[in-house]
Amino acid sequence: MSGFSDQLLFLLLLVSVSLSPPVRCLGNGGNGGNGKERTLAMIKPDGVSGNYTEEIKRIIVEASFDIAKEMLTQLDKETASAFYDEHSSRSFFPDLVTYMTSGPVLVMILEKTNAVSDWRGLIGPTDAQKAKISHPHSIRALCGTDLQRNCVHGSDSRSSAEREIKFFFEDVVSGDIASQHDEL
Ligand SMILES: *[C@@H]1O[C@H](CO)[C@@H](O)[C@H](O)[C@H]1NC(C)=O
Repeated sequence: MSGFSDQLLFLLLLVSVSLSPPVRCLGNGGNGGNGKERTLAMIKPDGVSGNYTEEIKRIIVEASFDIAKEMLTQLDKETASAFYDEHSSRSFFPDLVTYMTSGPVLVMILEKTNAVSDWRGLIGPTDAQKAKISHPHSIRALCGTDLQRNCVHGSDSRSSAEREIKFFFEDVVSGDIASQHDEL
């Protein structure tokens, strides 16, 4: 009898181990279910239309990120406004929405240990003009123009990352979800 339950336990373990990699548990603190952290990266319209997608993806892979998911999409006014909802009362908001809806964007879930801070390190300062001086090898120095047209986005914290991943990849488009990040 105990031999049988041992076998059963072993089988259950085997099943749960073999199931665990493809089953991504969300909402577990930024852990993609495999011990790695996740962040949301986006190549903005100027990056995509400026032909920087391949170069940026090469940098991403070279820096040992896994691209867990990616989606090329054209943001509409409503979605861009919801994503940047916390800036909705700012004077630059209409320009920001116009910029973000001016062409397709590539949204990606990046995975590695320390994904959030490592991706922010790679993209460099928010203001691309400053990035060109202080972080000449950063992605924003490569393809950004200024504070607004800065070519790429990166989540500013693990909680922002989870919220932004849900926003784009779980079909939840809601101002509530995107309302707490500061990063342009
Ligand atoms: C686009 O970028 C790729 C690689 O980054 C380069 O090989 C190609 O020549 C570029 N195409 C144009 C039209 O600039």
